[in-house]
Amino acid sequence: MAKKHSARANAARIISDVIHQHRSLNGLLANSLPHLADNERSLCQQLCYGVIRWQPQLQAIADLLVKKPLKNKDGDINALLLCGLYQLRAMRIPEHAALSETVNAAKTLGKQWASGLINASLRHYQREKDAIDAQALQSPSSLFAHPDWLINRFQQDWPEQWQSLLDANNQQPPMILRVNQQYCSRNQYLDRLAGAEITASALPDTAHGIILASACDVYSLPGFNQGHISIQDGAAQRVIDLLDIKAQQRILDACAAPGGKTCHILETQPDNEVVAIDIDPDRLVQIKQNTDRLGLKAQLIAADAADTTSWWDGTKFDRILIDAPCSGTGVIRRHPDIKLLRRPDDIANLALKQQQLLESLWPLLNTSGLLVYTTCSVIQQENEQQIMNFLQNHPEAQEHVADIAPATRRQAGYQRLPGEDQLDGFYYACLRHR
Ligand SMILES: C[S@@+](CC[C@H](N)C(=O)[O-])C[C@H]1O[C@@H](n2cnc3c(N)ncnc32)[C@H](O)[C@@H]1O
Repeated sequence: MAKKHSARANAARIISDVIHQHRSLNGLLANSLPHLADNERSLCQQLCYGVIRWQPQLQAIADLLVKKPLKNKDGDINALLLCGLYQLRAMRIPEHAALSETVNAAKTLGKQWASGLINASLRHYQREKDAIDAQALQSPSSLFAHPDWLINRFQQDWPEQWQSLLDANNQQPPMILRVNQQYCSRNQYLDRLAGAEITASALPDTAHGIILASACDVYSLPGFNQGHISIQDGAAQRVIDLLDIKAQQRILDACAAPGGKTCHILETQPDNEVVAIDIDPDRLVQIKQNTDRLGLKAQLIAADAADTTSWWDGTKFDRILIDAPCSGTGVIRRHPDIKLLRRPDDIANLALKQQQLLESLWPLLNTSGLLVYTTCSVIQQENEQQIMNFLQNHPEAQEHVADIAPATRRQAGYQRLPGEDQLDGFYYACLRHR
């Protein structure tokens, strides 16, 4: 009999919830994975990430296989079919096992009637794979596995790079660590990894970054619980260089949760006064968990950072970091559900929020201070256009050009596209008073 908590049935439910209820993949996995056995957990995770990453492509194939479209209430069966196709196309599971386990999962979902449909569709695909692929992969959306509006947006903003950008978004990203310099040096930690037979190397152009040869469970890394390392992409680690943190500074991290950069700032100078704000009280808890694990202290405030009357005590800051809420289009390879969850009109709404944050926080900067604006987006409206508009409206502000560029220089700021130097897509700008 099929197991109640099978990896495939769970993956189908999760994928269906992302597609139809627009829920976030990470949140769903966090709720679901603890209920699965160890061996099922990894398979469920691989299926969820893989299917969501390739969803537009897999759906185009599935639509050719299923003659009568499935009803909305059977989103789980549609998702299960996508899981079956993904196993046949991209996983190293023997085809007969992939087929029979996927058919069994229909029963686990309480929909025995669908086993025949899944079985027939997957067998049809096995027999005529090449012809079906050729027919399904004709539109840009299915070929590049992105929604049309995002492809158009990338073409408009990156006329030369859009195809490599789409390709990079469909790759699995490497696992990257940041060594907590308060506990050990990068070389010392590399030795500890070698001792644990984990293959890794220093991440170029970062002071404390390490790239692992393959991803592993974070809790299996030496000293994780003791705060000796954190998980953070190298693109995010480069923010610290622009901030140029010195002792005895008062620092504002305005959009701080879950606290990756707050902790990096404090690891550099643990005695500095750091005010970390986030609008989402639940996410603020994550900053507390991270600072506790790393043995650091920040002042945490749940507030809309742009509404300064609600939280500011009137003392200016030497450094302000606005790691703004954004489209996340630079980190699609880590969060493939962004392709399904974002809508075209999100961009203008996000650009407005970013502008409000810049306008309200700029007056809080000391005349000798630095304000660093960053996003994990590759959309120009959120990035260089945003900063160019700000500079036009603020003749008293100017760009501070970094000694070492964190990414490719743009008209304003610096842009990294996903996959460049193996890192996430990221935008950086550093502003100061004239
Ligand atoms: C890109 S994430 C920040 C990542 C974080 N800096 C890090 O390194 O871990 C953006 C954060 O901004 C928060 N946010 C959005 N609007 C905000 C606002 N008006 N004021 C404060 N925080 C806000 C979101 O809740 C989200 O946690």
